[in-house]
Amino acid sequence: MMDSYISTSLFLISCFSHGTVAHPHPLPEIGAHVSREIDSNDVYSNWPSYAQLPLDPSYPTKAAWGVWGANDTQGALNHITNATILAAGAEIQVGTAINLNLDLNEFVTPINTARKPLNHLFQPASGYTDDVVVLNTQVSTQFDGLRHLWKYVNVPVSHHYNYFVAPLTDNRWYNNLIDDFDQVIGPTPTTVLGIQQAAEKGIAGRGVLLDWVGWAESEGIVYDAFTGYGINSSDLDAVATWQGLPLNWSEPGDILLIRTGYMQAYRNLTAYQQETMPWNPELGSVGMNASDDSLAWLWEKKLALVGADNPAFESLPMDKTIGGVARSLHQVFIGGWGQSIMEFLDLETLAEELHRLNRSTFFLTIQNLNIQSGIASPPNAMAVL
Ligand SMILES: *[C@@H]1O[C@H](CO)[C@@H](O)[C@H](O)[C@H]1NC(C)=O
Ligand SMILES: *[C@@H]1O[C@H](CO)[C@@H](O)[C@H](O)[C@H]1NC(C)=O
Ligand SMILES: *[C@@H]1O[C@H](CO)[C@@H](O)[C@H](O)[C@H]1NC(C)=O
Ligand SMILES: *[C@@H]1O[C@H](CO)[C@@H](O)[C@H](O)[C@H]1NC(C)=O
Ligand SMILES: *[C@@H]1O[C@H](CO)[C@@H](O)[C@H](O)[C@H]1NC(C)=O
Ligand SMILES: *[C@@H]1O[C@H](CO)[C@@H](O)[C@H](O)[C@H]1NC(C)=O
Ligand SMILES: *[C@@H]1O[C@H](CO)[C@@H](O)[C@H](O)[C@H]1NC(C)=O
Repeated sequence: MMDSYISTSLFLISCFSHGTVAHPHPLPEIGAHVSREIDSNDVYSNWPSYAQLPLDPSYPTKAAWGVWGANDTQGALNHITNATILAAGAEIQVGTAINLNLDLNEFVTPINTARKPLNHLFQPASGYTDDVVVLNTQVSTQFDGLRHLWKYVNVPVSHHYNYFVAPLTDNRWYNNLIDDFDQVIGPTPTTVLGIQQAAEKGIAGRGVLLDWVGWAESEGIVYDAFTGYGINSSDLDAVATWQGLPLNWSEPGDILLIRTGYMQAYRNLTAYQQETMPWNPELGSVGMNASDDSLAWLWEKKLALVGADNPAFESLPMDKTIGGVARSLHQVFIGGWGQSIMEFLDLETLAEELHRLNRSTFFLTIQNLNIQSGIASPPNAMAVL
């Protein structure tokens, strides 16, 4: 949600001015010029370790360009196959279906005030009634698609809370498949990496919930969800152990969800606090700590997707460095790995039911809006236990 620069709302786009920061390593052509040899009988036979990323030094920090082929457009969703979906079917054991999406109007004032709130109109006609939804896809539960990358755009810091402490250099789209911002927001956008690709893929598989806040409460850890409190890999290993999972719990294609407690804390605020919170210049958010250690831990798990109940999956503000370079998890995931992120998920009922059943895994489906050149979408996420 934090990266307000790209939005499906034309109102927002039109008030941004475009800067002219040049990319430090211009690449010669569309596509990754160095790529991995893929054995179709065993796609993981020469899977690069995190230390081996990127495959070429001219690629952005820790990018996985070329790992799924030079012109691949699906990125981490390639981990989902017929076999992984079939295996995940075993997770359907009691027949409980759980909605993981917040009300589209949950945040009456969007947490990022550069975003327009939902506009929901009723349109009665003769003999039927319709409704019209004008939605910035980043104001409630959201799936960040692979076009949701900000680039060379100067937004006055006073315009909204400055989440972006890290400079926006060296920021390119997955596999170098888009080479100009106009191809994303111009009058005739291209479609490559659009949200329609994630909609058409069909996202289903095994979800794994790590209830960090449940563990933190059991440990008596005191924290404030509205600060940049960082959750790291040792914490998540401790959560897994607390839930009775082995440390090697992951299977390729898994979708990891982390419950940080952000939504629980937000709902505990008074209406007045919720209204005024977005203007607080000190506003931060609990989330996964952006570090090499976190990225290595996630990369080795071969996840198709990650999600959390907080604004950005990672902690805010984005003020960390990775490999000595100012960098956020968003930059590495979306532009580097072709990996989407789900934010502001409603994980409350899911966590409660999983605890009741002494389980951590479930069947999960996600169906994004099928809209050409789209940047993000409500994920319409559903868990089945
Ligand atoms: C990737 O696409 C570009 C542009 O269409 C093309 O020139 C290049 O040959 C493609 N590379 C591969 C490995 O298919
Ligand atoms: C999954 O099955 C469908 C239908 O048989 C097939 O078209 C598709 O290629 C399969 N996908 C993979 C990744 O095997
Ligand atoms: C994670 O943070 C805890 C403190 O909260 C620290 O003890 C631990 O060493 C950290 N682990 C990593 C991998 O940084
Ligand atoms: C919960 O499941 C774990 C294994 O996943 C098991 O070790 C533990 O005993 C179970 N707890 C209860 C209360 O059934
Ligand atoms: C996970 O670790 C256990 C030992 O704790 C081992 O028996 C099992 O084979 C491992 N599974 C995988 C997939 O590596
Ligand atoms: C929210 O309020 C509930 C009930 O008052 C309390 O149990 C919980 O600890 C609070 N959670 C947070 C994150 O403030
Ligand atoms: C978060 O990562 C930074 C490096 O990016 C590190 O300095 C810090 O100790 C980490 N915090 C935790 C809680 O692991």
